[in-house]
Amino acid sequence: MIIVYTSLLEKLARSIDGKFKIIPITSRKFPDGEKYIRISNDIKKEDIILLHSMALNPDESIVEYLLIVDALRSMECNTITAIIPYIPYLRQDKRFNIGEPLSAKIIANLISLGIDRLITIDPHLHRFRDLSELFKIPSINLSAIPLLVEYYKKNFDISNSIIIGPDIESERLVKTAANILSLPYFIFEKQRISDKEVTIEGEIKELSLKGKNAIIIDDIISTGGTVSKITSILLNNGMNKVDVLVSHCLLSEENYKKLKEIGLNELISTDTIPNPFSRVSIAPLISKIIGEIDDERGN
Ligand code: R5P
Repeated sequence: MIIVYTSLLEKLARSIDGKFKIIPITSRKFPDGEKYIRISNDIKKEDIILLHSMALNPDESIVEYLLIVDALRSMECNTITAIIPYIPYLRQDKRFNIGEPLSAKIIANLISLGIDRLITIDPHLHRFRDLSELFKIPSINLSAIPLLVEYYKKNFDISNSIIIGPDIESERLVKTAANILSLPYFIFEKQRISDKEVTIEGEIKELSLKGKNAIIIDDIISTGGTVSKITSILLNNGMNKVDVLVSHCLLSEENYKKLKEIGLNELISTDTIPNPFSRVSIAPLISKIIGEIDDERGN
């Protein structure tokens, strides 16, 4: 089995058990901005694990991915398992307005082209409840929430805390965290009114929040609009502090400053997307699944 990787995931590739051969993919741009890809090693009849990031510049990285998969296939590899820690475009899982594309499905179809199996981490699943509804190939959904929660438990006091979910999409992640930490949870109802703005509802008056600590759990933080609204509501209801644990962090420094001004205490994410708040690495998760795939092959 051979692990091939693109530049953003080099650190991850190198952290994986020395048992596998790992090879980088040459990627550069032509003067006109188009991508050039080359795999220089012999991979004939090999099972390939392709570690690819679609975190930054999603459009460009999707094209890069399609070119890589074609190059791998042309070299007569045996199978390709793509590991894409963060899959973009999944939040447009409905034609919210006439004339819009069903982006989640289009991107899922493109990713499925030419590979045998997909592995990803906490994909945004809402109207498509399961990866099998989206992807035509076998796919595995790993969760970084247990890693985030274990990290939090080790480093912070969890007594007197409540787990908070911003919306129904966060429910399964929230329940996972609440189970691990044996804490109560509450899930708000969120309506998105624009790219950056949301409205939040939910009968939090039923809960006694005064003096308690909140741990918001979500799959993604992007503009910070969701966390900002919820943090304000919780602090205005007398909560002591609000921390956030997210799998994928796309937040800019500028929007982070706004969250701090509102009163957010800690933001902790994984490293699926390179960012200053990633205190938890997904390397053990990826390493484990690669080991399991290798075992499946009888090694
Ligand atoms: C959407 O439902 C997701 O789970 C996140 O809550 C959302 O993408 C966060 O985006 P933002 O930070 O821009 O509010």
